[in-house]
Amino acid sequence: MAYVITEACIDVKDGACVVCCPVDCIYEGSRSLYIHPDECINCGLCVSVCPTRAIYDAHDLPTELREYERINSEFFGPAVTALGSPGGACDVGSTGIDHPEIRSYTRQ
Ligand code: F3S
Repeated sequence: MAYVITEACIDVKDGACVVCCPVDCIYEGSRSLYIHPDECINCGLCVSVCPTRAIYDAHDLPTELREYERINSEFFGPAVTALGSPGGACDVGSTGIDHPEIRSYTRQ
């Protein structure tokens, strides 16, 4: 189980999590960043540096944010970026792509 980026990242994209991630598993979309569920080593460093508190251990996701576990995972799948598991976000760069639910997200 990995860490998960949730709605507080959308249109903020502070980037502190990317800098501290020891395995470079946080990938950039257009409006949000996404943690790769298979590349994340569950160290939790990103949680403490995110200024918007957007990151949760998947086990601790509040009910209203549970869908973000699926969204982070689907971001890497064939229906969104088809990135698979590239093994590092640095070489990928900004994808310019968001999960459809993030693309259409409207802050309440
Ligand atoms: Fe987003 Fe927080 Fe990282 S705002 S880019 S999850 S530091």
